[in-house]
Amino acid sequence: MNSGSSFKFKWFNSCFRNLSAGNIRVQLVVLNSLCLVLMVFALMYTNNVHRTPPSHSQPYECKEDFGYGKASLEEIISGTAQQLDHPNFTYIRNANKTCIPNSDVLLLILVKSAVGHFRKRQYIRETWGIENGLHEDLIQQNFEDSYVNNTHKIKMALSWISEYCKQAKYILIVDDDMYVNIPNTISFILQEAISPDEDFYSGHLVPEPYPDRCLKSKHFISKTQYPFACYPPYIAGGSILLNKYTVEQFVRVMQFIPYLPFDDVFLGFIAQKLGIEPTKNAYISLEERTTNANDIKNFISQHGYNTNILFRIAYNNTHMQMKTVIKLA
Ligand SMILES: *[C@@H]1O[C@H](CO)[C@@H](O)[C@H](O)[C@H]1NC(C)=O
Ligand SMILES: *[C@@H]1O[C@H](CO)[C@@H](O)[C@H](O)[C@H]1NC(C)=O
Ligand SMILES: *[C@@H]1O[C@H](CO)[C@@H](O)[C@H](O)[C@H]1NC(C)=O
Ligand SMILES: *[C@@H]1O[C@H](CO)[C@@H](O)[C@H](O)[C@H]1NC(C)=O
Repeated sequence: MNSGSSFKFKWFNSCFRNLSAGNIRVQLVVLNSLCLVLMVFALMYTNNVHRTPPSHSQPYECKEDFGYGKASLEEIISGTAQQLDHPNFTYIRNANKTCIPNSDVLLLILVKSAVGHFRKRQYIRETWGIENGLHEDLIQQNFEDSYVNNTHKIKMALSWISEYCKQAKYILIVDDDMYVNIPNTISFILQEAISPDEDFYSGHLVPEPYPDRCLKSKHFISKTQYPFACYPPYIAGGSILLNKYTVEQFVRVMQFIPYLPFDDVFLGFIAQKLGIEPTKNAYISLEERTTNANDIKNFISQHGYNTNILFRIAYNNTHMQMKTVIKLA
């Protein structure tokens, strides 16, 4: 009896920890589960960024998972590793006019959205995306939209960048309920002097994640699918800021990482394989559903925008900043 109750307690405890620690992720994955379409904006500003190395946090080691993904990085790089059985999809829409070949693209923003989210995309086009909205700004591939297919969408985003906008120096990938403060994003990139040519994978850091074994959970994963006790650190999927170098490296190894249904965790594995550390970005807010769109002044991106009025208040706040940045450029 004792062992029975102890087992139960452990199970409950592990579920409880997942619920509290995974609070933020719950909302994000629900949103991601309906994504299929990506909307893209390419911002063209010239810049001369001089680099100072970004400060890395202390690495968290998920040693038990060491070796997950059979090919070593050396084998992948040398081309001797065998690709895993990820299906290849074809484009239905490819937004191939977004990035003019050889143009100078400082920042590329991709919005993960669902086919039916026309209204949300409209809010974005009328507010933070207003200067950059094109008619053919959608990317779509021929896979079915479902929760377990989420990772195909992030792979689509990365492949698309490498095929159609490889010159973009910085890349921001966001959900369609995020407000992006473009002036702050550009200021951050320029002021922090992040190099486009070294590791940069940042956002809301999930530093010590572990697999969810609660059967009823949206994030449940069986021990057959994933036998280990922890995940490597990753950046929560609602808003991910990367640079050119990191996207190139991710694309190189993504075919060699076993498929996991959680797109952001999948990126964590890619980064681990490459030895790229995810870094916390204090200006990316995924904490709460937004009640005060005035806070956007202090952020790169903020989560929880679901009404026209929230988008519009935020737009009024960022609009003045926008004018300042355009003058600078
Ligand atoms: C996907 O495409 C790549 C590159 O063309 C190819 O090497 C690979 O075998 C394809 N994968 C499948 C499952 O068809
Ligand atoms: C863009 O893609 C469409 C459809 O695949 C193709 O017809 C067109 O030629 C492409 N345009 C450019 C500029 O690559
Ligand atoms: C994922 O997409 C593929 C391709 O469209 C489809 O065959 C598969 O059924 C999808 N999976 C789910 C669970 O929807
Ligand atoms: C935004 O600013 C304009 C002009 O100042 C004002 O008319 C409008 O009511 C404001 N909108 C919101 C949602 O605050």
